Amino acid sequence: VNGVYLDHNATTPMDERVREAMQPWSGRAANASSMHAQGRAAREAVELARSRVAAALDASPDEVVFTSGGTESNNLALKGLVSGATSALAISMVEHAAVRGPAFQLRDAGHPLIELPVDAAGRVDAAALHEVLERSPVLVSIMWANNETGVIQDIPSIVAACRKAGVPLHTDAVQAVGKVPVSFRTSGVQLMSVSAHKLYGPQGVGALVVDRALSLAPLQEGGGQERGLRGGTEPVAAIVGFGMAAAIADEELAARAAHAQALRDRLERGLSQLPQVTILGSEAQRLPNTTQFVVDGIEGEALLHGLDRAGYAVSSGSACASGSKAPSHVLTAMGMAADAARGVVRASVGQGNTDADIDGLLEALQRILQPGAGITGGAVGGW
Ligand SMILES: Cc1ncc(COP(=O)(O)O)c(C=O)c1O
Repeated sequence: VNGVYLDHNATTPMDERVREAMQPWSGRAANASSMHAQGRAAREAVELARSRVAAALDASPDEVVFTSGGTESNNLALKGLVSGATSALAISMVEHAAVRGPAFQLRDAGHPLIELPVDAAGRVDAAALHEVLERSPVLVSIMWANNETGVIQDIPSIVAACRKAGVPLHTDAVQAVGKVPVSFRTSGVQLMSVSAHKLYGPQGVGALVVDRALSLAPLQEGGGQERGLRGGTEPVAAIVGFGMAAAIADEELAARAAHAQALRDRLERGLSQLPQVTILGSEAQRLPNTTQFVVDGIEGEALLHGLDRAGYAVSSGSACASGSKAPSHVLTAMGMAADAARGVVRASVGQGNTDADIDGLLEALQRILQPGAGITGGAVGGW
């Protein structure tokens, strides 16, 4: 497919160096639990990848549990810690569906759930968090950075409050890793979810970083792999790719962030010239690559399809998998009226983007927004 890809928060293209690292393992008989030479070689490759992921996240290798991605990591963190407990689970109102889903499932099974409100810029309300912590919840789950707005939470203050109350904190760091510095050790969080395909690695692999002091129950029983926390033969090629992607992301973090921010700022300078456009979350600290904006009186989805026809891949603010036109829960939590939330578009830049891509997007947007351009709606895009 030709065109300009500006949807890196949905997924990223795989780095050529990652593909090369995976190549020798693709299709090879490589069970890391086998005792023969081939098995031992696979184990060595998995453990090298584990140490690379750990180094990139500033964690210890024995804290890294490989999973199938961010969704499974979030499910493992929430259900693994909360199932069987009686005190409440607290999550923020702007979490990704991969946290909301398991949280709602626990709630429906009778577990108390508290949702923490956010301010107009999408930051968790500190007073509400303190109030909830007085009720000694079993776990607090607050994302590091939001996939829609790019808004970064005040993790140091949140950790300090949770520590003081003796409550473990899980953070969904899927969007943060590879875009801003993330240190598991320094942050003081106890559980952290990561996904390879958001950082130029393969799809279908990720990790949950688990503080050794925590005792967690697995989602599935099996062969005892991953310290008994994730049974199932490890996908060696995918894990090797994840290790390489994490190492590169760590090494190139500053350059990547600078590249993304320059493009994002260029885009936002252009957008600020358009009278119908408002940029969201800009009062908060944000990921360097993400812009979410709302266009007055126009469906985000219609805009998405107009831009798609012009060769620019962005994302709209509509709910994804259900195909419904429900406004985003993130934006309504930030106090936006449901109608306005339907006019939302997200552009998330990445390594391959250039100034010309941004200028082209702005031109296409201007053309589409001209009176009489006649944009129409269509199917819903994914996050
Ligand atoms: C914040 C956040 N958490 C979790 C996920 C899910 O990750 P995965 O696709 O690896 O399951 C995503 C991906 O969209 C995300 O943006």
